Order: sequence, then C-alpha cells, then structure tokens
Amino acid sequence: MRTQIIAHRGSKGAHPENTLPAFLHAVKVGADGIELDVQLSKDGQLVVIHDETVDRTTNGKGLVSQLALSELKRLDAGSWFNPGYSDTRLPTLKEVFETLTKEVFHGSVNVELKTDRYAYEGIEEKVVELVRSEEWPFDLVFSSFNEATLQRLLEKAPDFSAALLFRRLGEEKTHVGRYPLSAWHPKITWLKRASVPRLNKMPLRVWTVNKEREMKQCFRMSVEAIITDFPEKALEVREKYQMD
Ligand code: G3P
Ligand code: MG
Repeated sequence: MRTQIIAHRGSKGAHPENTLPAFLHAVKVGADGIELDVQLSKDGQLVVIHDETVDRTTNGKGLVSQLALSELKRLDAGSWFNPGYSDTRLPTLKEVFETLTKEVFHGSVNVELKTDRYAYEGIEEKVVELVRSEEWPFDLVFSSFNEATLQRLLEKAPDFSAALLFRRLGEEKTHVGRYPLSAWHPKITWLKRASVPRLNKMPLRVWTVNKEREMKQCFRMSVEAIITDFPEKALEVREKYQMD
C-alpha cells in the first residue's frame, strides 16, 4: 500500500499556512491530501486558521472567537511569512472547499476541528451543514484532539470519517471501542515508541513528518498517510522508498 502524502496546513513549509496559496501549492505538486484547521468566528463562521488568536499569522491581534468574519477578512494573513503574500486573507472553510472544487481536487481533505482550547459550541453542526450543502469532489476526514467534538460530530453525521489526534503513548487506548473512529492521527514521536501489534489495529496518519529519515521510516512501515509541511519533498522521498 502506498502511503498517502497529506499537506499540513496546506504547504506550511513554503507558504503562509492555512491560506489559499498554500492549498493551491499542495494541489499543484500533487499531494494526495490536504490538512487544515478550523476555528469559529464571533459571528459563527468557520474560519481556517491554526491558532485561537490571530496574533501569530496575521497583522491583527485578538481571539478569533471575538472577531467577526468582516474584521478577520481585513487582516493580512501572508506578510508575517513573506511580504510578497500581503494580499493573502484568512479563508473560510467554504472558500477552501470551493477553491479545491474549482481545481478539480479529487484527493482527501482533513478538516481538523480546533476545539482543544475552546469548545466552540455548534462548530460540529456547522461543519456537517457545509459538507451536506454540496457534492464535493474530494474525500473528507475530520480530526480533533477533543474527544467530545468527535463524538458530537459522529452523532450528527454517523457516515463521517472521524480520526483521533493524540501525542502520547497510551493515550489512544482510552478511546478504543467507545465511539467509531476510522483512524488514529498520532504525533511522529508516538510512532517511534509504539509496539508493532498496536500499529496494526488502526489506519495511521502520522504528523508532522518533515525529516527524510522519518518519512523513510513511515514509508517502510507502510503507514496509511503522513502529514507533512513539505509535500513536494515527501513525494520525492516516496518515489525512492515505496515503488508501488
Ligand atoms: O492534524 C495534524 C496536525 O495538524 C495536528 O497538530 O497543531 O499542527 O494542528 P497541529
Ligand atoms: Mg492541524
């Protein structure tokens, strides 16, 4: 089985993370999938941004949850990375879906619901509503560090693929059999410590795999997918270590 290459926050290594240029780059280089993070604005819009505040990745300040979409849209979400991206705006999840649809992207989109600090009441419902609003041409996977989010999502949409994000060895065990997860999304450090029998139980999508030797390890183990900041490099490394 070929390990899928999923572009982390778009292509975080070479573009401002979680922005349209990053997602378009992932499509252009041929990534199998795209991972992105979603938070909720003050007026209940699904906004694609990693942090709970806009401070690190825009020229603004404050919590996403305290800013309306119109305020978030005024921010420059690219200059912090490179001045050439000063026109880049924070995208909504719908805008990303529409852009990927225009690009005829048939890979997978991993929507991470960023509810580990704030529960963002109603976020699961809004995600379900958006997903059901159209026939999107790509596959969807939903992940979260927050178990309650995954449970709520599956209650509302039992047909969704939900994956648990975690960091520490043993953390995954507390979730086994309690709700229908389709995959585990462990941190790479977990993979290094986990025993082989445990690895066989669930499809693994490992993050964040940026070093060539870690990519090589994942390819040799034929994990389901790696989530990487450098999809282009990962595709090259895969050519070397996985023939089919
Ligand atoms: O989904 C994998 C990875 O994105 C989880 O960590 O902090 O980059 O969202 P983070
Ligand atoms: Mg993420």
